[in-house]
Amino acid sequence: MSSLSPDSSASAERPSTSSAAASGRPTGPDGGEQRASNAGQERIHPKKVRTLHLQKFKDAGQKFGMLTAYDAEMASIFNDVGIEVLLVGDSASNVMMGRSTTLPITVDELLVFAKSVVNGAQRSLIVVDLPFGSYEASPQQAVETAVRFMKEAGVHAVKVEGDASISGHIQALVSAGIPVMAHVGFTPQSEHALGGYRVQGRGETSDRLLQDALAAQEAGAFCVLMEMVPAAVAAEVDAALHVPTVGIGAGSATTGQVLVWQDVLGLGSGRSPRFVKQYADLRGVVTDAVAQYHHDVISGEFPAQEHTF
Ligand code: KIV
Repeated sequence: MSSLSPDSSASAERPSTSSAAASGRPTGPDGGEQRASNAGQERIHPKKVRTLHLQKFKDAGQKFGMLTAYDAEMASIFNDVGIEVLLVGDSASNVMMGRSTTLPITVDELLVFAKSVVNGAQRSLIVVDLPFGSYEASPQQAVETAVRFMKEAGVHAVKVEGDASISGHIQALVSAGIPVMAHVGFTPQSEHALGGYRVQGRGETSDRLLQDALAAQEAGAFCVLMEMVPAAVAAEVDAALHVPTVGIGAGSATTGQVLVWQDVLGLGSGRSPRFVKQYADLRGVVTDAVAQYHHDVISGEFPAQEHTF
């Protein structure tokens, strides 16, 4: 199953096992940063990634990586590799719970995934999606839901999908001390309103996309995520905004890139969206290993002497 777009043809505190010191990465005081040399270029490398660092990345012309995460083990791997931002996406509805859309996932369900990620990652900035139906009704509803994620799970920021009409919600969240990542362009929670998985911001609608992004920035969002937007339009939006941007199917001009980890690692069974680059075939690896285990069990080869007390 592809993580997010089954019909995406339209596209168009668990201690970490490896410390920064052990991995050769620079260390600094808590929340501080050091400059690491990378291919002759100095990179800002915060000990703990905070929203202000994403701004510094953009100001310095430095890219950052973002991946979804839903459990402590994967979160700890991504954290230790240095992925700057982990998103507890409502895509958990698809990739963890087997549903065809993100819409059904509840706050209580996503809270479990969020707590797990917070337990697995100490350095990465952890952002959670506000699920469909948990924030749209009013700015107050948005604040109440976000507060649950901050208090009960310990996430650092929330992400909200929507156009300029949710600026008031973003403002209320920011006023309550909750950092907000805005999600514009294709917004999966509005799949039915948008007519399916479709590239957004083409032609005349590019100005509306820019206005949505500017409204989010004006309302106080620390970052704007653009999904399935033509690369040229995303580049224009990124240039018009002073806050950092993240892209998924939005070309290479954004400050950061995000993908769903099951897509990146090849765990799904379906066709991946065009914007995905698959870096591993985890489904093949797991299938082979489990088949071998099954074979060993039914043939009596496992457990062997060394596995036996
Ligand atoms: O829920 C999610 O995984 C997302 C990404 C598509 C950005 O929102």
